[in-house]
Amino acid sequence: MALSKMILNINGVDRMLICDKEKDTLADVVRRLGLTGTKVGCKVGQCGICSVILNGEVTRGCIKKMKNISEGSMIVTIEGIGTPTSLHPLQQAFITYGAVQCGFCSPGFIVSAKVLLDQNNNPTRQEVRAWFQKNHNACRCTGYKPIVDSVLAAAKVIRGEWTMEDIQYKVPTDGKIYGTGYPRPAALAKVTGLCDYGDDIGMKMPGALHIAVVLPGVDHGNLISIDTSEAEKMPGVEKIITYKDVQGTNRTMFPCSSPHSRCDGFDHYILVENKILRCGDVVALVAARTREEARAAAKKVELKIEELPAYKNILDSCAEGAMQLHPEHPNIYGTFPLRKGEDTRKIMENSDFVVEGSFHSQHEPHLVLEPDTVQAYVDEQGVVTIHCKTLALYMSIMMIARGIGVPNDKIRIIENPTGASFGYSGGVLTYALMAVATLATGKPCTMTLSYDEHQHITGKRQGCFSNGKLACDKNGKLTALEYETVFDTGAYAEFGFPVAEGGTRYTGMTYYIPNIRALSSVAISNVAMTAPYRAATSPPCFTVFEHLMDMLAEKAGIDPFEFRAINSYHEGDTTNSGHTLSVYPYPQIYEKMRPVYEAAIDYAKKNSTPLMKIGVGISNSCYNTTGGPDHAEVALELNPDGTVTNFNTAEDQGQGTDAHALVFTYEALRPLGLKPEQIKLCMNDTGLCPNTGPAAGSRTHYVTGRATLDAADKLMKAMKKEDGTFRTYDEMVADGIPTKYLGVSDTTSITKPLDPNTCQGNPSAEYMWGTFLSMVEVDTTTGKTKLLKMHAVVDCGPIGNILSFEGQGYSGMMHSAGYALREQYSDPQKHTGLANSGFSFIGDVPDELSIDTVVSMRPTGPFGSSGCSEVFQAGPHMSVINAIYNACGVRIYELPATPDKVKAGLDLIAQGKTPQPRKYYLGYDMWEKLDDMEQNPVNLTKKPTVFDHH
Ligand code: FES
Ligand code: FES
Repeated sequence: MALSKMILNINGVDRMLICDKEKDTLADVVRRLGLTGTKVGCKVGQCGICSVILNGEVTRGCIKKMKNISEGSMIVTIEGIGTPTSLHPLQQAFITYGAVQCGFCSPGFIVSAKVLLDQNNNPTRQEVRAWFQKNHNACRCTGYKPIVDSVLAAAKVIRGEWTMEDIQYKVPTDGKIYGTGYPRPAALAKVTGLCDYGDDIGMKMPGALHIAVVLPGVDHGNLISIDTSEAEKMPGVEKIITYKDVQGTNRTMFPCSSPHSRCDGFDHYILVENKILRCGDVVALVAARTREEARAAAKKVELKIEELPAYKNILDSCAEGAMQLHPEHPNIYGTFPLRKGEDTRKIMENSDFVVEGSFHSQHEPHLVLEPDTVQAYVDEQGVVTIHCKTLALYMSIMMIARGIGVPNDKIRIIENPTGASFGYSGGVLTYALMAVATLATGKPCTMTLSYDEHQHITGKRQGCFSNGKLACDKNGKLTALEYETVFDTGAYAEFGFPVAEGGTRYTGMTYYIPNIRALSSVAISNVAMTAPYRAATSPPCFTVFEHLMDMLAEKAGIDPFEFRAINSYHEGDTTNSGHTLSVYPYPQIYEKMRPVYEAAIDYAKKNSTPLMKIGVGISNSCYNTTGGPDHAEVALELNPDGTVTNFNTAEDQGQGTDAHALVFTYEALRPLGLKPEQIKLCMNDTGLCPNTGPAAGSRTHYVTGRATLDAADKLMKAMKKEDGTFRTYDEMVADGIPTKYLGVSDTTSITKPLDPNTCQGNPSAEYMWGTFLSMVEVDTTTGKTKLLKMHAVVDCGPIGNILSFEGQGYSGMMHSAGYALREQYSDPQKHTGLANSGFSFIGDVPDELSIDTVVSMRPTGPFGSSGCSEVFQAGPHMSVINAIYNACGVRIYELPATPDKVKAGLDLIAQGKTPQPRKYYLGYDMWEKLDDMEQNPVNLTKKPTVFDHH
């Protein structure tokens, strides 16, 4: 290694540094100097996360080699743009306008926008968008709209039209901050680059070993041997870790507590023992002094593998004669029956209109910008402590404890500031791996995956294949639904059972269907493994049903908007699961959407050309708020200085649970007369905070709110004196009254588990409802589809925080459009990064994203609220797919609607033919299986066997 001395002017001062000009990048160097506000994401120049200003130009630090930087160059990083006590207008605007969601991209955007505004302090929206497209600035959390709003607001301050005060949040005069854009507390550190994410924490952890993974390089095989002899001789290597070093069962655990389960929930290996089921399985870990040394040594680990044919999807693994992939359970490892109303066979025959189709939804990658990163150490009390991006702190402990061989109470999990997850971080493999590493080496360890490792190792949204049939009468009222669905959960059953159960709930949900017969199954293949993803399970269900609705509307000769309005829930209608609802907002939702739909249809008619065809599509969407009987805890403590601390584990994946916790506490304690800044937060550390449950199922706002209100009620009752005033902290102590109270939200009494023989019941405490409209333009020469506009009308109850609501909304709509048009993880050889997996850059996302609301008070919700996240990602993708059909007559049965598929459909139409779906064989005869399950019902008293194994 040849080192060089350099002097660079960094943030206004000359700094002397030493670097390896051939190997080091500018991002490496500034981060080594402690300027870790410059983050690193893709590391290959695609995302702009690492942007710095080099001699006045926006530069991606991760691909700028030091050898290409001249001595004396002027460099500005985020730390040089503003500080917490002296913010640049861009930093203030990002906070106030909701541009900071997870905040991982914020430094890169601010640095980039600074150069834009230096050159042009009065840009148009289009110029701002073009600038970010040119400079590769990517964001996964905002739909880009709030970022553009922020830049335009900052420009006004820079031009002197507004003051800094004009772009700061102000508490309304009535003191109510619920329902406003109260800025999230963590945003200040994020816009100034002072927030340390996992990789920053790992860099600053004393004595940490760096961990690199050894992957098998095949999708399916038997591991014959591992030869570590060469790797052990590599510089800096401390230990090569294999399954033999694991002290526990070497399995993670996910409950398969269903009588339909053919898997015990312990089928996922931490480190490969002999069977390789996907290319993201980890065979060994290398611990070394530096990341480079660990990675170099990992390449020297020699694996002998007997490669086996890989099943790329469940059509292969469910085919007649397919080999059993997992040694311990069949490929189809669970099937749920849905029976509502009468047997549908006769009803189908007697209905006026019937349509059938077969549909495929792909594995969808989460495409977060921060690749997975974990730190682990054993603390001074002997507790294995893991810092990670988890969305389920306490559940992660339960899922890894036996596998790593450490009792639950000797594991502590802390959520790092998280560069978004959208669900993938519910998977625990990397947390278990890092616990194994720190136990095996006896030293603190840190690991940050490269982006391609992240793609292969972390879970994805499950793929799905379905056959469906839908009928209605001559008035357009739905009469019956039949479908069979098999979800492709990839290599393991982890997270499979909620998916299978969800398959019975979401296909047709939002519409009243009196009679349904269906099967929902889960099966494994050799591509990916399943992890939660926002609106888990439901998008493939909406793929099936919103296709069928459009097809049936056409057959019945009814406008697709009117057809949906007729059939969407009206007062008293029951869901697929046979339960009624607390609110029925669809008539109002459709009333609000109608003028938008009519205007869009009018626009499409006037502006469509034979070459560029414009179309409009509609789809409903919904999701549950909490997924089942749900228990959550939050504690409030009165402090000696009169402030109050909220202790919770409402994991913040970027959605702003810090703001929610603060706002709920402030509002609930209004009688005490506290200011917002007198509410303190202690969050996301199992060593300090109670179990608030996972950040999943759009539950955090609902359950954290309920538990906070309960804790506040208890605290204020304890503080209250007979004269109606409140005790101070000193008075509480003097009177021997505790100062800390645990609030609880428990929904057990308001939910009813599904009957496994019929899937009838009401497993969720609340729901969110919505309808989406998309307008697309299809280029008939190439088949390329451009989304021109997406509009939502949703009912989530009263909104708690506008910035979080819009962040979830715009980003959910953006992900949905990406899912419809581009995003996929179907081929591990190909889908290794952001760009080649279909990431949505700003040029792919319309500026016309808009949300309107209907507000129905939820009887059990905190301040009448429900959740707000997942309604934005369950069904909107189908408004895009239906818009393509409306534009050019091509129905895309197998997502995503890539240009080649649309073009193939256009070519068929040009030949006078109609694109047809292919009917899938899904491993069984649907009616035989349904009849068999009816005649042999499962024993409801049978106890699940989950915890008896391994
Ligand atoms: Fe540098 Fe992505 S462009 S980290
Ligand atoms: Fe942009 Fe999360 S806020 S990636």
